[in-house]
Amino acid sequence: MKKIILLCFFTLTACDQSPSEKTVNPESTTSEVADKSSTVTSRWYTQSQLEVGYKIYQKNCLRCHNKDAVGTLEWKKTRPNGDYPPPPLNGTAHAWHHDIGTLTRTIKNGGIPLGGVMPGFSNQLSDAEIRAVIAYFQSFWSNEIYDSWLEIGGL
Ligand code: HEC
Repeated sequence: MKKIILLCFFTLTACDQSPSEKTVNPESTTSEVADKSSTVTSRWYTQSQLEVGYKIYQKNCLRCHNKDAVGTLEWKKTRPNGDYPPPPLNGTAHAWHHDIGTLTRTIKNGGIPLGGVMPGFSNQLSDAEIRAVIAYFQSFWSNEIYDSWLEIGGL
């Protein structure tokens, strides 16, 4: 039953044909956060929030969601123990279907209350830090995905 709830959490709005155009700057493969000032101007966050978010991501999220928020390739397939693997947060999975309030709550509470495995970060991260880490993974979203997120009331 718990797994069904978790699955609904991912598929609130079924949309597997999400545009997957990637605008990730090839230079972002360096260990530093890339200068995203060209896209930052049209987004809710600043370059300095990205810098903060990058550090928070490296420390808390990288080990599961991987470099550049690519997550797990087969994120829809449960592991042998029934757990879902960490999904991509880079705009190729479902993270963009959730508004900023929902994303914040997910990071605060984690997935455990829904039968998942992600730990909650409400004790470790302040609201400002959570917003910064959201900014960081959103910096991998294409403008198309970002605009779709705005259209569904993401902000
Ligand atoms: C121990 C591994 C682990 C860590 C650490 C972790 N996550 Fe997760 N995350 C997961 C898994 C697995 C899921 C899928 C739900 C579940 O099983 O809890 C998930 C789901 C999510 C989702 C929902 C995605 C969607 O498509 O709806 C967001 C957002 C997210 N994580 C952000 C973060 C951020 C930000 C951090 C760091 C502050 C983080 N996670 C740290 C494993 C992790």
